[in-house]
Amino acid sequence: MGGAHVDLSVDLAGLRLSNPMMTASGTCGYADEYADFMDMSRLGAFVTKSVTAKPRPGNEAYRIVETRGGMLNAIGLANVGMEAFLAEKMPRLRRLRALGPRIIVNVAGHDADEFAAVASRIAQEQSVDAIELNVSCPNVAGGLDFGTTPHLLEPLVRTVRQEVRDEVRLIVKLSPNVQDITKTARAAVEGGADILSMINTFTAMAVDIERCRPRLANGTGGLSGPAIRPLAVHLVGRVYREVAQPAGVPIIGMGGVQYWQDAAEFLIAGASGLAVGTALFVDPATPVTVADGLARWLIDHGRRSIKEVIGTLEFPDNR
Ligand SMILES: Cc1cc2nc3c(=O)[nH]c(=O)nc-3n(C[C@H](O)[C@H](O)[C@H](O)COP(=O)(O)O)c2cc1C
Repeated sequence: MGGAHVDLSVDLAGLRLSNPMMTASGTCGYADEYADFMDMSRLGAFVTKSVTAKPRPGNEAYRIVETRGGMLNAIGLANVGMEAFLAEKMPRLRRLRALGPRIIVNVAGHDADEFAAVASRIAQEQSVDAIELNVSCPNVAGGLDFGTTPHLLEPLVRTVRQEVRDEVRLIVKLSPNVQDITKTARAAVEGGADILSMINTFTAMAVDIERCRPRLANGTGGLSGPAIRPLAVHLVGRVYREVAQPAGVPIIGMGGVQYWQDAAEFLIAGASGLAVGTALFVDPATPVTVADGLARWLIDHGRRSIKEVIGTLEFPDNR
């Protein structure tokens, strides 16, 4: 009763969240799936599975393989398609939004027309607060082209930004499968991204040593979970310093967040929002326990607001 209070709210380019914690796209379906396992009203935002124009069955099984400290997935953007999403999934997301969390719909497509058509239609829904563009899926043919090619990414983002109503924030999700992520980050910002989210999974492979075949039917998949966290923290820190902070564009950080200490690393490195994916498979309540842990940490350090720690990394200049 009456204990210390800390303000966990964050403002991502006008997208105001009660706390920075969200679900990572593709790991929590469309909110039906986890309702019995976590108090979803405690999320800052709910991020959906990628939605494409038409339904997609995705890749053959096996589509998921556990690895040490992480997992490999090659789901291949299996999803119900835009029409079924709007008819069958939106009502539940609308009800969830009434409880507090903001709603972010992740959109994918094969070309700029598909991205723009799906994003603009979904953004017409009043309960949709932001669209996240998945330009970085490593598990479908052509899925990485936009996310790895700055001169394709910038016009794509510009087209989508023009088609999506102004009040809806546009998030561009960056791929780590590039030589220099600041180039794609800059292209996204120049195209008009309001927020950057990072990172999607790293292309990787696990081998069945008895059959001498990849363990995933797709051959390769995307690596996620604790194994990628230091890579993700590094990339967030770099994009924050070199692109996002100078441009005033907030970052949603993700990649291996499981404990509040992991989340704190991302915040210090420059992320203002945080998404949890793989750790949900271990404990669906992870975003809530991480938020509680962050609150205690901030109180213990005499902080009043989580905003006081964002981007406070003292990075050596002599690197
Ligand atoms: C099973 C699975 C499915 C995913 N599906 C999507 C997807 O549909 N769209 C997308 O943008 N990212 C997708 N991702 C990537 C995650 O949103 C996230 O970027 C990545 O897993 C890193 O976070 P994590 O280590 O907390 O899982 C998926 C990840 C996993 C593990």
